[in-house]
Amino acid sequence: MPMANDKIRIALIGAGGMGQGDARDAARVSGVEIAAAADVYDARLGRMKELYPSIATVRDYRELLARPDIDAVIIATPDHWHAHITLDALAAGKDVYCEKPMVQKIEDGKRVIEAAKKTGRIFQMGSQYASAHAFQKISALLKSGAIGELNMVEAWLDRNTATGAWQYSIPPDASPQNIDWDGFLGSAPKRPFEPIRLFRWRNYRDYGTAVAGDLYVHLFTGLHTATGALGPTRIYSTGGLRYWDDGRDVPDVQMGVIDYEASAAHPRFQFVMRVNFKSSKAEEDFGYRFIGSEGSITTDTAKVTLSRVPREKEPGNTADTFSREMEAAYIRAYRERYPLQPATTATLSRPTVQQFTSPHDAHEIHMRNFIDALRTRKPFFEDATYGFRATGPALLCNTSYFEDRVCHWNAETMTAS
Ligand SMILES: NC(=O)c1ccc[n+]([C@@H]2O[C@H](COP(=O)([O-])OP(=O)(O)OC[C@H]3O[C@@H](n4cnc5c(N)ncnc54)[C@H](O)[C@@H]3O)[C@@H](O)[C@H]2O)c1
Repeated sequence: MPMANDKIRIALIGAGGMGQGDARDAARVSGVEIAAAADVYDARLGRMKELYPSIATVRDYRELLARPDIDAVIIATPDHWHAHITLDALAAGKDVYCEKPMVQKIEDGKRVIEAAKKTGRIFQMGSQYASAHAFQKISALLKSGAIGELNMVEAWLDRNTATGAWQYSIPPDASPQNIDWDGFLGSAPKRPFEPIRLFRWRNYRDYGTAVAGDLYVHLFTGLHTATGALGPTRIYSTGGLRYWDDGRDVPDVQMGVIDYEASAAHPRFQFVMRVNFKSSKAEEDFGYRFIGSEGSITTDTAKVTLSRVPREKEPGNTADTFSREMEAAYIRAYRERYPLQPATTATLSRPTVQQFTSPHDAHEIHMRNFIDALRTRKPFFEDATYGFRATGPALLCNTSYFEDRVCHWNAETMTAS
C-alpha cells in the first residue's frame, strides 16, 4: 500500500484510446510510474512500449495482478470485461480505476460494491464529470437558489462524424496471430475471429452497453454531481438505428425521459436527454440546461452560464379579446391592483446573464483525485456506490429501449424493477 511519498506503480489493462489517455494523465502525476500494460492486441502493447520504454507488456491481465510490485490498475477494456477484471483486481489486493460504465450487466453492480468494501481497496469509476469544476459550480449555484426551484434538466450530446459514431480503425494486420481472440471474447458468446467486433466493440451488445452505457453514464454523473441526487425513480427511453447501417445492433439516436422525485437535496424534476450520431452539426455539441422557476444554467463543462429571469411582477392579461367596454373595465380594475411601474411597463424583469469559465481537463483532475486517494486512503466520492448510481439508471435506459417498457429504480437500495 503506497504511503504519502512512495512511488505508485500502475498497470494499464486495455491499452486502446481511453487507456492510453488515462495512463498519460496518471503518468503526469509526480511519483507515478506506468509499470505494465495488458492488451489482447499486440500492436497496442507495441504502442505502450514506444510511449513507456521500460514497461512490461503481457496479453493476459492476470499475469499483472499476480505481481506484488503493482499497486493499482486502470481498467479500460471493452465494457463486458469491467466487472470481471475489477473483481479479480480487488481480490488480488489492487486499487482500481475502472472506466465507465462500472458494469455491463446491472446484476454485477452490487458485487463490485461489496468487493470494494470487503477488500478495503480504493475503487473509482472513470466518469470524469464527478471531478469537473463546472458541476461543482452548478451545485453551488443551485444551492444558493440562483435559478429558484429546479424543475427540469436537459442534456444532449450530438455527433456527426464516423469516429464519433464509433467507426474506429481496423488495423490491416489484424489476425489470430497478433490478437488473443478468446481473451477478448471472455464471457461473451463464442464466435470465430472477426476483427470488426474487437475494434468496433461498442456497436455490439455482447461487448458494449449501447449509447446509454457509453454516454448517458456521463450525463447521469454530471447531473448527480450538480444536484446531489442519488438517482431517478422512473426511466423511459426510445430511439432507433437511423443512419449507421453497418451491422451494429444498437441505436444511433436515443432519448431518455427520466423522473427524479423530491429529496432533501433537490425538488422533484424531470431529466430529458438525447444522443444523436447523425446530427448534421459541424462540431460535436454537448451540454446541459438546468431550468428553474427563476432562470436557467447551461454548461458545456468549459463554461457555465447563469441566466436569471426573476418572477414576473404582474401576470399580464388577455383583455383585448373582450368587448371594448369590458376590456376598459378589466384594465381599470387590473391597474388598481397592479399600478404601472414608473420605470417600465414590461411584465417580465429583464434576464441577467453571468458566465463562469472553467479551463481545465476533467479527465486529468479525475485521475489526480484517484492518485490522491491511493496516497491518503480516503476514497474519492465517485466510489463504487456513486459509480453504480450513475451506471444503473443508464443501463435501465437500455432495458427500457430494448424491452419497450418503463423501468423503475430505487436509488437508495440500487434495485431495479
Ligand atoms: N471516460 C471517458 O470519457 C471515456 C472515453 C472513452 C472510452 N471510455 C471507456 O474506456 C473503455 C475503453 O474504451 P476505448 O475507447 O479506449 O476502446 P478501445 O477499443 O480503443 O480500447 C480497448 C482496448 O482493450 C483491449 N482489450 C479487449 N479485451 C481485453 C482484455 N480482456 N484484456 C486486456 N485488453 C483487452 C483492446 O484490444 C483495446 O486495445 C470503455 O469502457 C469506454 O466506455 C471512457
